[in-house]
Amino acid sequence: MSGENKDRKNTGGRPLSRRGFLAGAGIGAGIGAAGAVGADRFLGPRDGEPAGDGDSQTVPFNGEHQSGITTAQQERMYFVALDVATDSRDELRDLLRTWTVMARRMSQGLEAEPDGSVGVDRNAVATDTGEAVGLRPARLTVTVGFGPSLFDDRFGLAEARPEELEDLPHFAGDQINEEISRGDLCIQACADDPQVAVHAARVLTMAGNGVVTVRWAQLGFGRTASTSITQGTPRNLFGFKDGTANLKNEYTNLINEHVWVHDTGSWLDGGSYLCARRIRMLLENWDRQTRREQEEVFGRTKDEGAPIGREHEEDPMPFNEWHGTDGPLIPAHAHSRLASAPANDGARMLRRGYNFVGGVDEYGHLDAGLFFIAFVASPRDDFIAVQSNLSHHDNMNEFVRYESSAIFACPPGLVDDDDWWGRGLFERTT
Ligand code: HEM
Repeated sequence: MSGENKDRKNTGGRPLSRRGFLAGAGIGAGIGAAGAVGADRFLGPRDGEPAGDGDSQTVPFNGEHQSGITTAQQERMYFVALDVATDSRDELRDLLRTWTVMARRMSQGLEAEPDGSVGVDRNAVATDTGEAVGLRPARLTVTVGFGPSLFDDRFGLAEARPEELEDLPHFAGDQINEEISRGDLCIQACADDPQVAVHAARVLTMAGNGVVTVRWAQLGFGRTASTSITQGTPRNLFGFKDGTANLKNEYTNLINEHVWVHDTGSWLDGGSYLCARRIRMLLENWDRQTRREQEEVFGRTKDEGAPIGREHEEDPMPFNEWHGTDGPLIPAHAHSRLASAPANDGARMLRRGYNFVGGVDEYGHLDAGLFFIAFVASPRDDFIAVQSNLSHHDNMNEFVRYESSAIFACPPGLVDDDDWWGRGLFERTT
């Protein structure tokens, strides 16, 4: 299918009117010069490359919930937190509309705008930066969230702030760097190709020129969880399998109960809370521990990822068994025990984190770790309770440092091609 046809299919046959969705967003002088409808460019595969597996390269954009949450977790992530730089509610609303249109197109493997990148009019400034031309869609998902600070008195949204959308508390041992914490908005771009993920968030950021500024960003390589039973369990930078006991998208009842906000009657029903923590791993220290010591930190074996005393990864954790007189088989302060549902009044979360390496610090130690992301229906019951427990007692604390904290409310999914992120929120407020 040619790019043009593909675009027609995905926009319901209507040409995209740039003027319609950019009006008032205060973005991109020079955009208009490219014309309202241009030749469309399908981003890949490159000429001469095999066509690949077609539709499995794309994740549906519309749906009851935003994609990028229960979507089988992609291998790469680029996360951007932004602050709104204008006081204009209309500019913010129009930007969210623009983002929705652009992200919908990019997740289908199209340029953010027809003819917005390498084919842009020579006298116009490109609206799409172009580095994804020739690349496959790579299962790109773009997930947007609203931080607590968006609900201050700037945009008339204060009344609609969900009760649980509050800055995460300070947890014991936290060494939070404010410069890489919080934010009015977030964009989580995930894909199996890092360049596709970076491109998506970069283009949306550029579209927000004059309306938003980037507060901080994090690049992640290598997922640290599985969110579907069809995926194998990956390993984190400690070398351990991570994601074994995670919620999987096939566990519909648990996902409905612990991931999707429900029955609140608010604009957030069908959405989810995203809790993020940048966790530095003190790898030089970790790498000097024996395998037994490492396994006792997690309560799982390093090879299979099985509970200590068991053989298989999927075996249930023997929390109540004893190792002769030496104490419990799974140490009292093992990470898996302390984070488990039985230890936290039934709390569950959908983990969706990534490894990161940001170079080395002034001592030559790796600035590396895990950018932890969890999606929950209730931050209080499903996340804060667990994080508190871990922060006080976790065996792992000796080897990690919590460096940043952020929470965002991710609105529900998009019902059709005219829908946009935040429509429910804006329609309920003035
Ligand atoms: C550097 C940071 C972290 C590392 C390396 C890490 C690693 C692991 C590993 C290896 C497991 C066992 C395998 C599995 O079930 O996935 C695990 C389980 C788990 N972790 Fe973490 N984790 C980290 C941070 C966190 C944080 C911040 C939370 C929540 C606040 C958390 C929540 C959980 C939960 C809920 C489980 C499943 C426990 C169970 O039911 O057995 N983890 N983690």
